[in-house]
Amino acid sequence: MAVKEMYAIPSQWNTPHSKEDLEPTEIEFRNVGKCFPAKGKAEAPFAIREVNFKIRRGEVVSIIGPSGCGKSTILNMGSGLYRPSEGEVFVGGEAVVGPVRKVAFMLQKDLLMPWRSIRRNVELGLEIQGMAAAQRQPIAEDLLNRCHLQGFADHYPFQLSGGMRQRAALARTLAIDPQVLFLDEPFSALDAQTKMILQQDLARMLFEEKKTALFITHDLVEAIAMSDRLLVMSARPGTIIEEISVDLPFRDNPLERRKLPEIGPLAGRLMELLKVGEDTELH
Ligand SMILES: Nc1ncnc2c1ncn2[C@@H]1O[C@H](COP(=O)(O)OP(=O)(O)OP(=O)(O)O)[C@@H](O)[C@H]1O
Ligand SMILES: [Mg+2]
Repeated sequence: MAVKEMYAIPSQWNTPHSKEDLEPTEIEFRNVGKCFPAKGKAEAPFAIREVNFKIRRGEVVSIIGPSGCGKSTILNMGSGLYRPSEGEVFVGGEAVVGPVRKVAFMLQKDLLMPWRSIRRNVELGLEIQGMAAAQRQPIAEDLLNRCHLQGFADHYPFQLSGGMRQRAALARTLAIDPQVLFLDEPFSALDAQTKMILQQDLARMLFEEKKTALFITHDLVEAIAMSDRLLVMSARPGTIIEEISVDLPFRDNPLERRKLPEIGPLAGRLMELLKVGEDTELH
């Protein structure tokens, strides 16, 4: 029996104290481990081990941790691209055993198709789902407007700046109307100001549409500015060493949240946990 179950809090003490607590669990990792076979070694070393967390519907949670600790591996398992070596992963209450329809994945690289116009790139997921062109067009149009790409629908990816391409990738990610978004360093290749504007757009859309998101970033202030909660990971084999609630206003407005005086001390706490500035080995 898991320790947690042995010492479960009596239910009368565990009553929800806010509306958010009533939201169902959307993503759950239960004792998840993943090992990859290593060349010339009989035993495959664990990349992550005993990863446990729950994310409620509508929450935005960031994972931070040193390079190689297994952050992308966690997202790959959440979206069904990798199977865990041990433990279980659930999305929307169902065990993940392959690609999940209600999930969208956005990466650092925009992965736009160079031979398709921006509009047709945004429509791609809907086209794959078999939606008719007449139905797809207004959806793509609306998303291009909301992502500030009006006027660029008929351009091709090579005609856009890096920030605009990443906006188009965001529009394409949102086009299939996913309930859950896995975002793997989506803005890390952008300059600081473009990044802040995209964070603002994403945060607003996630909030308005009550999407659930698991976000990976190396930018500690970005994590604080965008999230309800932070999961801090240790170096390999990665596991969650600390869970921090970001009890600050403006989850829908990271530009405002960045100005709050609490940001500095919280970033300092994360630096301590990650031992930034101390001699750490990179994997
Ligand atoms: N497909 C794979 N085959 C073999 N090893 C892998 C594979 N994917 C990940 N790994 C290993 O698992 C570990 C975790 O990798 P992962 O990419 O999840 O780290 P990360 O935390 O996302 O790192 P970064 O911050 O640099 O993106 C690394 O040691 C990596 O080499
Ligand atoms: Mg990664």
